[in-house]
Amino acid sequence: MKYRRLGGTELNVSVIGIGTWQFGGEWGREYTQAEADAILDKGHELGINLIDTAECYGDHLSEKLIGDYISRRNREDWIIATKFGHHFHDLFSRTDAFEASGVAAQLDASLKALKLDYIDLYQFHSGPDQAFDSDELWTMLDKQREAGKIRFLGTSIGSNDNLHQTESSTKVGSRAIQVVYNRLDRKPEERVFPSCQEQDLGVLARVPLASGYLSGKYKPGAVFAGNDVRHRHDAEATRLKLEEVERIGREEVPAGVDMASWALAWCLKHPAVTTVIPGCKDPAQVESNAKAAELVTEPHPQDASI
Ligand SMILES: NC(=O)c1ccc[n+]([C@@H]2O[C@H](COP(=O)([O-])OP(=O)(O)OC[C@H]3O[C@@H](n4cnc5c(N)ncnc54)[C@H](OP(=O)(O)O)[C@@H]3O)[C@@H](O)[C@H]2O)c1
Repeated sequence: MKYRRLGGTELNVSVIGIGTWQFGGEWGREYTQAEADAILDKGHELGINLIDTAECYGDHLSEKLIGDYISRRNREDWIIATKFGHHFHDLFSRTDAFEASGVAAQLDASLKALKLDYIDLYQFHSGPDQAFDSDELWTMLDKQREAGKIRFLGTSIGSNDNLHQTESSTKVGSRAIQVVYNRLDRKPEERVFPSCQEQDLGVLARVPLASGYLSGKYKPGAVFAGNDVRHRHDAEATRLKLEEVERIGREEVPAGVDMASWALAWCLKHPAVTTVIPGCKDPAQVESNAKAAELVTEPHPQDASI
């Protein structure tokens, strides 16, 4: 595994993290505690130290599976990133909840679910600019940071061209940006990444496999089960993406290299990107994703000295 410093924070994160939206049940299956344990144990075995979750992957369900796991392992082995800003109602149904007092209650609920005293990275979860521009919200969060419940604040931007929230990061005390970035979607390179580099923000590239399409295992016309979030994607847009994936597979991926690993390493080449957080459904996917670190051979401005 390789490690990079998450921007100006003191966190040295593995270049491959584990995304856990899947644990909430919106990717076609539910998880037992034993299945979640096996995924996270495999990550630890391979040097992964970063887990990304959220308040609304299920009703704190993903956080509960992670919390139960960590309570039986060494908490200091892990950097836990979670998020705030929604009430979960049912699968694929949540409402915004970014008011300061509500977020303070969500923070306590997340700490309880995670069975933790502190969260390493607490991220504004893809909310509107109007919610982001609340002094009351960031003042409350700063107090929680001073109280020791949060180590660092971050922002997961909804649109991957949200320059307003990115540019305002230093001002509000947010030290990392989470953004959709992958070989099919390079928009952040234009405005978001330069702003991150200027402010020395950490960058977590989310959806680095383009929802799994960049694994190369799906052919144009692929159909997903009704309880899989990809069933809700526009069918024509997905078909076009999968045609592009076929072209990329033929023209860009070196022979003999696994396309998913290649796609993760591709993200990690950008000098602004600290880490990728692919969603993982089983230990085999964790193993294959961790192997991408071997394809990262160039020096990077955020390389950790450990
Ligand atoms: N607004 C936000 O803040 C936000 C939004 C979205 C995601 N996220 C975070 O980002 C994480 C990653 O995004 P994502 O899960 O949406 O998309 P992703 O990482 O691009 O794709 C994940 C899917 O790819 C497939 N996959 C993973 N590893 C693979 C491998 N080695 N080989 C083949 N297939 C593989 C799996 O699905 P199949 O095997 O079924 O194909 C998996 O569910 C999430 O888990 C979450 O933590 C945050």
